Amino acid sequence: MSESTRRLRYAGETRTVTADDKAALIDVVYVALGVRSSARACGNGRCGSCRLLLEGEPVKACELAWADVPDGARLESYETLKRDPAVKLAVAEFTRERPTRCRMCIGALAVTARSLAGRELTGEVLDAALVDVTCMCTGRGSLRRALERR
Ligand code: FES
Ligand code: FES
Repeated sequence: MSESTRRLRYAGETRTVTADDKAALIDVVYVALGVRSSARACGNGRCGSCRLLLEGEPVKACELAWADVPDGARLESYETLKRDPAVKLAVAEFTRERPTRCRMCIGALAVTARSLAGRELTGEVLDAALVDVTCMCTGRGSLRRALERR
């Protein structure tokens, strides 16, 4: 096993984290940063539940090895984005439509909403943003409606 240490900018702080190079980012941040809003589900890139923002771009954190995370990268999750207006609106819309579901997909919805802030939401943009992201309870359509109602 080989380990490496790098810095992550998260929640207004720079955190120094040491982890196994082969560990998936989602597992590293679960332990080291307490990220719970995005989480491992399928573990093979199909559901999007592990989606995080790395340097402002969505990543599948179950498939990104710790060795491939840039030192000093800015990481965002729903925990750090709760006050973002686009995120608040998307989560509120999803909750209004689907109030009693498991909410496993909320982290992915939140970071996706943030990644789209300021962009024109055409059908193509929404389709591309939700590739490999779904709500396992209700399907992708409810995520898409929550994003497009902003
Ligand atoms: S847990 Fe990463 S895509 Fe499903
Ligand atoms: S509400 Fe259960 S996965 Fe979306």
